[in-house]
Amino acid sequence: MASSEEIQFLILTTLDKQGSIENTDSLRSAVGSPIHYLSVIGVLNSLASKDMVAYTTIEKDHYNLTEEGNEIADSGSHEAKVFNAVHPKDGIAIAELAKQLGAAAKIGQGKAFKNKWIKKDGDKLVREVESIVDQTQLDALEVRRTGTHSNPATLKDLQSRKHVEKVKLISYNVTKGPKFSLTIEKQATDLTAEMLADGSWKTQTFKKYNFAGNPPEGGHLHPLMKVREEFRKIFFELGFEEMPTNKYVESSFWNFDALFQPQQHPARDAHDTFFLLDPATSSNFPDMDYVNRVKEVHSHGGYGSIGYGYDWKIEEAEKLLLRTHTTSVSSNMLYRLAQETKANGGVFKPAKFFSIDRVYRNETVDATHLAEFHQVEGVIADKNLTLGDLIGFMKVFFEKMGVPNIKFKPAFNPYTEPSMEIFSWHPGLEKWVELGNSGMFRPEMLEAMGLDPDVRVIAWGLGLERPTMIKYGLDNIRELLGHKVDLDMIQSNPACRLDKKMGKELVGKDAVDA
Ligand code: PHE
Repeated sequence: MASSEEIQFLILTTLDKQGSIENTDSLRSAVGSPIHYLSVIGVLNSLASKDMVAYTTIEKDHYNLTEEGNEIADSGSHEAKVFNAVHPKDGIAIAELAKQLGAAAKIGQGKAFKNKWIKKDGDKLVREVESIVDQTQLDALEVRRTGTHSNPATLKDLQSRKHVEKVKLISYNVTKGPKFSLTIEKQATDLTAEMLADGSWKTQTFKKYNFAGNPPEGGHLHPLMKVREEFRKIFFELGFEEMPTNKYVESSFWNFDALFQPQQHPARDAHDTFFLLDPATSSNFPDMDYVNRVKEVHSHGGYGSIGYGYDWKIEEAEKLLLRTHTTSVSSNMLYRLAQETKANGGVFKPAKFFSIDRVYRNETVDATHLAEFHQVEGVIADKNLTLGDLIGFMKVFFEKMGVPNIKFKPAFNPYTEPSMEIFSWHPGLEKWVELGNSGMFRPEMLEAMGLDPDVRVIAWGLGLERPTMIKYGLDNIRELLGHKVDLDMIQSNPACRLDKKMGKELVGKDAVDA
């Protein structure tokens, strides 16, 4: 086989001599053999990318003999074999013919009868003519020689008898390109600092980008992450700072106790919370004074509260768990805010925090619930904030999400007072659906941390899965997470705009029925 250097040389010198190559079929290697089109196309593409040549593809039907066709071309048709087996004088016994020719006897006999070459004589076959012309063999030989047959009907017949099969022959018509030359200039693939420094970039030719072909298979953001990006954008636009949420294992202290959630609260039951077995506990507390203030406010009250009046135990606060809400991160951050205020000589700086990450609950899994999901949480700390600020801010926030109509319903959280669930009117379902939960953190929580009594913190939380399922029209949480996820769904879905309708988002009926 000719190498691609040889083929390239052949193409360039032929073009130089003849001006064009009408058909690359005419190219012959140094030893005179034809050159396969697959080797030609590689060279042509490379030369064309440098504008040295231009080419068009020529497609031609070509007919090849099949295995049976080749056998006929080499040793004659079945009917000729039968004729030849019949002795000119004595004929041949039918049983003997089958023995000599095998399967060919059957096929050949019929044809030979039809051609009136032989006839039956008792249990023998005898010749009817002295000699024959084996036209079938001649036809096969013509196809072998020319790649086709001069008579289209014969060609069709040969095809239907599976002696011949059609293939497409590809060749090329080649002309000189604007940058035709006998030598190939080495093209640079990179613009380097040296080229810029020595000025050689001015004369250097560069390899063209090839944008043809398949788009590269890159990564694709999961729909949940697309919606998360939208939420992050909204928070950043509103001046929020992202909280570090890389602590999935948390102590009961930050997840519950710091939030003034009593130790007998049902949420602390193993039915609702995943506790760790190994290590089961951590006594890595920030400072024992703060821990003791938490103990005090739970047991006996303080900061205007009567507390819960029970015996608070540190062992309970030491239990490690998979965080049940991202409010564990918020409590940690608010404590740090109190520490910073103290370090700052008591000068309080307002803060706006948000987080979007995974939380875990030991729940029964169904079409809309998994044991792990994502929460979106926002926290605003400033002096003298009121419930009116929370309501007003929620309107701004949800409007940015594309939800203009929200209503509030009084609710209960151990760590907020007052607390409000947030509902929005779903036009597709024609009902109010719950979007999230919100409230003002209790003084029992904030003042124990060391924040001044006039520092108020409003906060809210919502799930990420529900808006994602609504946006992407998914009915079942298993279409979004887990082994049944359709990768195509992840790759083909568009980025999400929370404030823009995506067409199919009213499909996900169950998604909002949670
Ligand atoms: N932590 C609450 C939940 O898990 C949400 C919430 C956050 C409520 C902040 C009030 C304030 O549902």
